[in-house]
Amino acid sequence: MCGIIGIASNKQVVQNIISSLKKLEYRGYDSAGIATIVNGEINEKKCMGRVDNLERILFKNPAAGSLGIGHVRWATHGSPSQVNAHPHSSEEVSVVHNGIIENSNELKINLEQKGYKFKSQTDTEVITFLLTDFLKDFDLVDAINKTLKTLNGSFALGILFKKYNNIVVGARRGSPLAVGYGPEENYLGSDSYALKSMTNKITYLDDGEICVLTNNNVDFYNSKNKKINKKVLTLSIDEQTSKKGDYKDFMSKEINEQDITAKTCVKEYVDQLRKDINLYNFPIAPKDIEKIVLIGCGTAYHSCAAAKYWFEELTNIPIEIDVASEFRYRKIKFSKKNLYIFVSQSGETADTFAALDLCKKNNVKTCSIINVVESSIARSSDLVLPIHAGPEIGVASTKAFLGQMLVLYILAIKISEIRKEISKLDYEKKINDLKKLPDLIKKTLDYCQNNTPVIAKDFLKAKGAIFLGRGLSFPIALEGALKLKELSYLHAEGYPAGEMKHGPLALIEEGLPVVILAPKDRYFEKTISNMQEVIARGGKVILITNENNKIISENVRFTLEIPMTNEQLTPFLMTIPLQFLAYHVASLKNCDIDKPRNLAKSVTVE
Ligand code: AGP
Repeated sequence: MCGIIGIASNKQVVQNIISSLKKLEYRGYDSAGIATIVNGEINEKKCMGRVDNLERILFKNPAAGSLGIGHVRWATHGSPSQVNAHPHSSEEVSVVHNGIIENSNELKINLEQKGYKFKSQTDTEVITFLLTDFLKDFDLVDAINKTLKTLNGSFALGILFKKYNNIVVGARRGSPLAVGYGPEENYLGSDSYALKSMTNKITYLDDGEICVLTNNNVDFYNSKNKKINKKVLTLSIDEQTSKKGDYKDFMSKEINEQDITAKTCVKEYVDQLRKDINLYNFPIAPKDIEKIVLIGCGTAYHSCAAAKYWFEELTNIPIEIDVASEFRYRKIKFSKKNLYIFVSQSGETADTFAALDLCKKNNVKTCSIINVVESSIARSSDLVLPIHAGPEIGVASTKAFLGQMLVLYILAIKISEIRKEISKLDYEKKINDLKKLPDLIKKTLDYCQNNTPVIAKDFLKAKGAIFLGRGLSFPIALEGALKLKELSYLHAEGYPAGEMKHGPLALIEEGLPVVILAPKDRYFEKTISNMQEVIARGGKVILITNENNKIISENVRFTLEIPMTNEQLTPFLMTIPLQFLAYHVASLKNCDIDKPRNLAKSVTVE
């Protein structure tokens, strides 16, 4: 979950490495570092904290070099500290690493016996010393491959050498790594996003491959030391969408552009003229699908949880949902007649990728719903359905959640239509309703902008908060609780409202904020009864319902009103007040909105 950059150039590289590291901070931000080759020697600078800190250090003590590697860290082995920050260097090599070396303890013992002295508590330093050791007896590519074969676990590496002082080397197994081609310089990056301001010509490394970059050439090798050819892809340039503009932070930008996310997504998948949904090339004919399994992590899992309701409502297909980190280790009964759908904004989440890989090894059909079309998950799936949300930079997922739900909903309608489980009239009505969705989202955004800040104050003194919903509002309650937790560090739980009396009701005490999601749907009366049970025990209720749906209750502290729409579209609107609420609570608590503590945008470790 760290970010890696490497540049081999004929110009000074430090400034470009720093700019790229800032783009990679979404992967980790507890420490940062850089190494260059200066006068034939490895020169390393690193510090705790953000890239801004590193930049200040470099301002006082500038580093030179036309060859360099850089790193932003999300700690796994060893706490965030200067000594544990990457690069990790010996006299001979300097290494930046994303991933986890699972056998680092035993390797460390062997290396210590050989006389190597470890400075850090990281798993990465074993790579530095293994390389140093193999380079004594073997040439470059052989020494690298021998090192990689000694390692268990996952890694993407960037490496500098004292002896080979005109190259930057990259290698991967399990963690993503991209090579970029520029004018008289070449790049290495954890993803193409970090390289986009420098190039749109990219090659992705596959597991077991090594790349050797000079300023005017890139060579690729496989694990048998053989030179191989790789495809160069040309990516679209969408730099503009990754800028904050007038917004205070990326999260507020991303929340506020959800009407555009919906509009783009609907435009991509829905043919308004023909009143049809443009979805083809299913890896299994929809009429033959016997079961759909939806898999994701965190927010992406919540979109799977919402999709379960839509698929069950619209089709006769049995639906299972699973958290990727559980799916990958269970004894799954795979079937060729099942469709396995993977949901991931980044397309790089290690657990989701491993679950997908497991499906591939079992020869079953896969589909991925992703935001980053060049990602590992997209590249490995039989069918790829992009959500077209544009780059999401804030660590807390907002517009991608909406986009994931939207693609899943559209998919459910289309599969239902192909299987003839929905009438033509109903199919066309759903398409019409989809067309209206972006305007309803815009209306909700404007409303929440004005009406949520005052409510946030109520959360400041609270010990925690509870989010309750039934039916499609239950997964939204889970997502609302996750947003509040990750942004404001306040304990929050989401529950099906009907579950309260089976235990969680014991948590309700005077003043505890309880957010009740009660749209005017088939569950409405029941949810309101649950709300009364909370009020009777002193809970401070924030009710979210539909406009003009007057609920007479003196004891509701705040009511938020979302526009009326059909039941299946309600989750898209219901999510928005919860995102605003979490955002404002976190702002009042002065939390770092775009980079909450301990988290990273792309979770590329298990
Ligand atoms: C969302 O706010 C989280 N930061 C997190 O739960 C995220 O959704 C999860 O890590 C999955 O990421 P992905 O969509 O990139 O796979």
